[in-house]
Formats: sequence, structure tokens, C-alpha cells
Amino acid sequence: MNQKKISGDVYSPSQQVIDKAHVKDWNKLNNSAFENYLDFWEKEANELHWFKKWDKVLDDSNKPFFKWFTNAEVNIVYNCLDRHCETPRRNKLALLWEGEKGEFRGFSYFALKRETCRTANVLKSLGVKKGDRVTIYMGRIPELLISMLACARIGAIHSVVYGGFTVEALHERLEDSQSKVLIVADGSYQRGKIVPLKSIADEALQRAATVESVLVVKRTGEPINMEPGRDMWLHELLALPIANSTCSIEIMDAEDPLFMLYTSGTTGKPKAILHTHGGYMVGTYSTLKYVFDIHDEDRYWCAADPGWITGHSYIVYGPLLNGATSFMYEGAPTFPYPNRWWQMIEKYGINILYTAPTAIRGLMRFGEAWPNRHDLSSLRLLGSVGEPINPEAWKWYHRVIGKDKCPIMDTWWQTETGMFMITPMPCVDLKPGSATRPFPGIEMDILNEQGESVKPNEVGNLVIKTPWPSIMRTIYNDPDRFVQQYWSKYPGMYLTGDSARRDEDGYIWVIGRVDDVIKVSGYRLGTAEVESALVSHPAVAEAAAIGLPHDIKGNAIYTYVILKSSVVKHDKLIEELRQHVSHELGPIAKPEHIEFVESLPKTRSGKIMRRVLRARALGEELKDLSTLEE
Ligand code: WT7
Repeated sequence: MNQKKISGDVYSPSQQVIDKAHVKDWNKLNNSAFENYLDFWEKEANELHWFKKWDKVLDDSNKPFFKWFTNAEVNIVYNCLDRHCETPRRNKLALLWEGEKGEFRGFSYFALKRETCRTANVLKSLGVKKGDRVTIYMGRIPELLISMLACARIGAIHSVVYGGFTVEALHERLEDSQSKVLIVADGSYQRGKIVPLKSIADEALQRAATVESVLVVKRTGEPINMEPGRDMWLHELLALPIANSTCSIEIMDAEDPLFMLYTSGTTGKPKAILHTHGGYMVGTYSTLKYVFDIHDEDRYWCAADPGWITGHSYIVYGPLLNGATSFMYEGAPTFPYPNRWWQMIEKYGINILYTAPTAIRGLMRFGEAWPNRHDLSSLRLLGSVGEPINPEAWKWYHRVIGKDKCPIMDTWWQTETGMFMITPMPCVDLKPGSATRPFPGIEMDILNEQGESVKPNEVGNLVIKTPWPSIMRTIYNDPDRFVQQYWSKYPGMYLTGDSARRDEDGYIWVIGRVDDVIKVSGYRLGTAEVESALVSHPAVAEAAAIGLPHDIKGNAIYTYVILKSSVVKHDKLIEELRQHVSHELGPIAKPEHIEFVESLPKTRSGKIMRRVLRARALGEELKDLSTLEE
């Protein structure tokens, strides 16, 4: 309950929602967390299991390389699985899964622990040890979760590559992480078609040298190539005596790496964001508990992909840490019909649905009749993530899906933050399009170029001032880039790369990226990645990519290409280039638009001026061209 009356288009939660919520008074929690945020996090950490407790909650003696829960011993998997197996939750469903073809699989906490141990034993038999990197590449199937947990159980660092990425994206990630093992599915289902993941991986592996063993999960059963001495079927190894159902857990230092996850940045190749066992665990546990208000009887569905941070934090780790029942669906929202999601909400009695604005806009397009055919009354809370949600989509989601009774948790965060940073809780008054205020104990600000806080409703750079437990620890293999990219514009503060404004009530309205990151359907892509995929085609001399507004995707990729002088333009070339990007990077990176140009606007130092291209494409007037060379 908010003491102060807030202004604008406000949606207050019902008393019923508040009565059920863990947090009934946001201000009270926020005030106490603000007084001493270390006490707040320590209390949260104490709800979890540690083999040995910490000396200090936070060690900030070597900023920005923060350490949380110093000298503590822990393993996140113990808290995700073993801890619940010692209680009646042992027989509770941890994971409910539906395949695109309608198959169903369910795992109790006991079963998920058993399968995790079995796969962990297989990894051990291949020589995987603490600190080794393992890349995981598959669709949304239970083996993806099990593989992640198996790695973490034995202290290996997982690197999940989104199953929608293709050859070059996978190659780069294998190479940069120096992975010893790749766990891959033979293929995945996407809208009734098969994505040949193993053959994409074969091509990537020809370019990458470090992988010694490839474990193949059978999903589609289509014929694939198996390289003798390198490739093995996982199910065959799981049938051997080595794959027994107990596997001792590796005791980790709280600061030991748990996983790396690649994300797009402003320059060149994607960067590996590194998260740890201790702090990441506390952050994801606590934020999910308070924001999605997890109760034992809930069935929670985060419809993201485990290949992105949303899936890591809020399909895998957060829900398991909370002992929740998590639902995962393999396929696309509108396959075979636009009611697929609504059908599953009815069938499984889902209480909490967490998705992205692009999915909502995509479903909205098909009209209300599809959801209205289904009983959605089990829903209590809704969520949104990935990009700003336009008020029109917010209201549709609230009215048509939530029947005006489910508050929408619009959560702002990043791969780098590991957990929700700006977010409401069920008891908070909402304004459509605003992620509301920072999570308790976290101080954020909006600054102008001089580093001063802007006035209400003025736009500036969004920064974070207080450290939090699940903050990325570094960029794997590139600590300098970590410091330079996030901590150098405003010394001592974390730069988010987003612009935002704050209204009179302190509500934050995130506008979007201010760097060269494009959010396409909520997926994060770098202009540099799209450009280098284009340039790797023999016909292309130079390329520039920008993001432009798109009704459903939020942003669409527009590209400008200079062809090599020897190349003759022909009708099919545009389609060929689009296919090439899709083959190298993935279908999500396929440019919406390709235009052949003779030159590109550049600064004197040779940087492409994307804002000039953007202004031209939008028909806007160009301001300040003083740095333009050509
Ligand atoms: C960027 C981070 C972390 C979850 C998935 C995205 C944008 C994310 C919101 C939101 C407005 C949002 C920001 C951010 N973003 N959530 N609720 N409202 N913008 O993670 O791929 O690391 O992307 O997504 O621009 O910087 P990511």
C-alpha cells in the first residue's frame, strides 16, 4: 500500500492480491532495505543453505570487482535440488514440460536431482572438472536444464548458446569460452519444422578447436552425422553403470564462477558475462520470491528461453531456489494456432505468466476471441521483460489475459545485473509502461552528460549506484573491457546503456538503449555482429546496421551495404544476403531491410554514424553534423 497518492494513469492491485502477497507494504520493506542494504541481503542469504557462512557480506575493497559473501562455501545446485529433497517438497513437481507436438514430461524435485546427478556423472567420466567450460546448445527441452544443473553440481562453468543462433555465433562462443565439451541436441522443433542443431554445430566445430567431446541429446531422431571418437549419444552413456543416480556435490567458494552467458555489446564480438554461485543465488532467489510472489501451491511459467538470462535466472535458478513448480513449453506461442499458450494456461492451471512485450503484441494481433475461448482464471500475476512495454499492449494484457485482476510486473534488468533491478511487487500501484521503482536496497539515478541528476521527466543516462549480490563479476577473459564499458563514464557508478526519465512520483520510464545494441523482439543484438555477418559474404565490402521501430518486434534491423566493385547487383542478392546472415548468426538477426549504397556516413576517425542513417531512414532532420567526414 502506498502512502502517497500518485498521479497519472494508475492501476492499483486488488485487496485479494495484496492479502496473499509476501510483501504487503512496499514502502516499509524499501525503507528498511535502504537503511542497511547489507543487512537486507544477509537476511535473504540466511534463508538458503551454505556449507560455510561468510566472513563479510560485501567486500568492495577492489571496486568495481565486488565480492559478495566472502569465504563462504556453497553450491547453488544444493539449494536448487538437495535442500528440497530433504523435505516433503521432494515429491513436488519441479518442472512441467510440454513439447511442441503436445508430449508431456514432468520431474519431481527428486527426479530432477537424480537426472542431474546422472548427467553430472557422465560429464565427470569425460574428464570434466571444476572450472572447465561446457557449452550447451539445444531447444527448450528438459535436458537443457538438467545439463546446466549437472555442470554446476560438479563446478564446471556452463555457457548456454541460444538454440536460435547459428554457425558463426556458436563458433565464436565455443572459441572464446575454450569449451571442452559441447552438449547439443540432434535438432529442435520450431513451428512444425526441424532446426538441425547438430549439423549447425558440426559446421561451427570445424571452425573451433578446443572441444574434445560432443554429447548428443536425441530429440527429433532425424539422421545426423556422428564423428567417431568425438560424438556420443547422451542416452547411451546414461544407460551405463557410470551414470548412477548419486553424485557428490562440489563445494564451491561463493565467488567461484557458475556460468558465463554471452551478450551483445557496443563493439565487435559478444562478451561473456560471468556470474557466481553465491551472490547470483541470493539475488535470483530473493527477487523472484518477492516480485512474482512465489507460494508453494503456485504453477509458474516464464515463457522466455533458457538460452538468455531471463531463462537462466527465472526458468532455472530462481524457481528451483524457491522450490516452485516451473512450466516450460518447447514451441512458438502461435503454433499450430494462436491459442496455444491460452490452452496450456487452462490445461496446467498456470498462476503466473512472465513474458515479453513482443510476444504480447504478436498475440494481440489475432484478437480477443482466441484467449476468450479458454479459462484463464487461474492467473494471479503477469510479467513483462525485455524492452519497454507500450501502454496499449500493457492494457490488452491486463484486461484480456489478466481479466483486470492480475497486476503486471514490468521488470527492468539485464544479462549483467542477473536479477530484477527496476520492478514493482504485487502490492504496488502500477502505471502502464513504467517498470516503477528500483528493487528495495538499490539506488539508481538518471544523469546528464555532466554527471548531474536530471530534473523530473528529463531524459538522461540510467545508472546504478549501489552494488547488488548478482552483479556480473567481470567479462570472462576481458576485465579491462568490464571496467571500461560499465564503470568509466561516471566513476563509481554502473552504466546501464539505457536512457530513461523519472516522473514526479519517482517512477522510472526506460526509453531504450543509447548504444549500438538493437533489441529485436526483446533479443539483444549488436550492430557490429550483424555488420560482420554481412561482410563475411563475398559480395559485401562494407555494411552498417541500425534498429528502427517495428510494430511487433519493437525494433527491426535495417542495413546499408556497399558491394564490392566487381559485384553485379541482381534481384536475388538481397535475399541471398538475408539468408547468409541467418545462416551465420541466426534467424532473429536476419535484416528486415537491405539497401545498397555507394558510401556510408562516417566520422573523421572512421566510425559509422548510425544516428545519421537512423535520421535519414525516419525522415528526420539531421542535427549537428560537425563530426561527419563523408
Ligand atoms: C536490456 C537488457 C534481462 C532480461 C532480458 C533482457 C532492455 C529489459 C526491460 C523493461 C524496458 C527493458 C533494456 C536493457 N529491457 N527489460 N522491463 N523495460 N527495457 O536482457 O538481453 O541483457 O537486455 O533490455 O534496454 O538494457 P538483455
